[in-house]
Amino acid sequence: MLEEQMLRKGLKTRAFGSKIFAFETIDSTNNCAKAVAGCGAGEGTVVIAEHQTNGKGRHGRVWQSTPNENLMFSIVLRPKLPPEDLNLLPLYVAVAVSDAIERLAGIKLECKWPNDLLINGKKVAGILIEGSYKQNSIDYVVIGVGINVNQLRFPGEIEATATSLRLEIGKEVDRIPLFREILVSMENIYRNSSSRGFQSIIPQWLAHTHMINRTISVSQQGTVFSGTVKGLSPEGGLVLQTDGAERTVFAGDVTILGH
Ligand code: BTN
Repeated sequence: MLEEQMLRKGLKTRAFGSKIFAFETIDSTNNCAKAVAGCGAGEGTVVIAEHQTNGKGRHGRVWQSTPNENLMFSIVLRPKLPPEDLNLLPLYVAVAVSDAIERLAGIKLECKWPNDLLINGKKVAGILIEGSYKQNSIDYVVIGVGINVNQLRFPGEIEATATSLRLEIGKEVDRIPLFREILVSMENIYRNSSSRGFQSIIPQWLAHTHMINRTISVSQQGTVFSGTVKGLSPEGGLVLQTDGAERTVFAGDVTILGH
C-alpha cells in the first residue's frame, strides 16, 4: 500500500503533500478531500487511495482503476481566483501532470480539452475538479487526479480507448517518485500562476495539445455539434470555428474526429 511516510519522504514541496491521508480503500478520494476541506484542511492537503469503491469521473461516470497499480489522489486548493477563471484550473493540472510524467517516465502526453491526458490518442489520465463557494467566492477546490500507471488490462467498455504508462513505455513505473514529481510540478506551476495570473497557463497548455485545427464534436446536454478547434479563450474555453461562426465552448464531452 502507498503509505503517508513513504510518500512524504524526500518530497520537495512547501505545502503540497504537507498533510497526506492515505487509504487502502475509500469511496472516492474527492469525496474525502471535500469533507476535510469543509473542516478547514489547508491548501495542499492530499487524499490518496489504492482502491475507490465509488471512483468518480466527469459527467457522472465511474472512474475504474485496478487496486495497487495506479495513482488516484485529490488535492485541496484554496485559489484566490475569480469564479470565471475556474475553467483554467483543469488546464493547469493537465500541464503540471504531463510535465511531471515526461520528466520522470520520458514520455510525452497530449492534453485533450478540458480534462484528459492522452498517449497515442488513448486516455492515460483524467482530472475531476469539484469546488465549493462562500459568499460568491471560491472557498476551496478539490482536484482529483487518476492516472493509469501500471494497469495492463482494461474492462471491455474502455479497452479500446484507455492505456497506461506501462503499456506505452513497456516497463513498470515506480508510483512513489512519480507521485512526488507530480506534486512538485503542481506546486511550482500553481505558485507561478497564482502570482502571474492563471492566464499564463494558456500558452503552456497549447504547447501540450494536438487539438488545434482538428475537427471535433461536442456533446452538451443532449445537443451535439461539430467544429474546428482554433484555440483557447482567455477564460480557458475552447474556441471553435463552426459553420460560418466562431463559438466558445466551456463544457461538454469532446470527441476528436479528424483533420
Ligand atoms: C475523468 O476523466 O472523467 C476524471 C477522472 C478523475 C478520477 C480521479 S481518481 C481520484 C479522484 N477521485 C475520484 O473519485 N475521481 C478522481
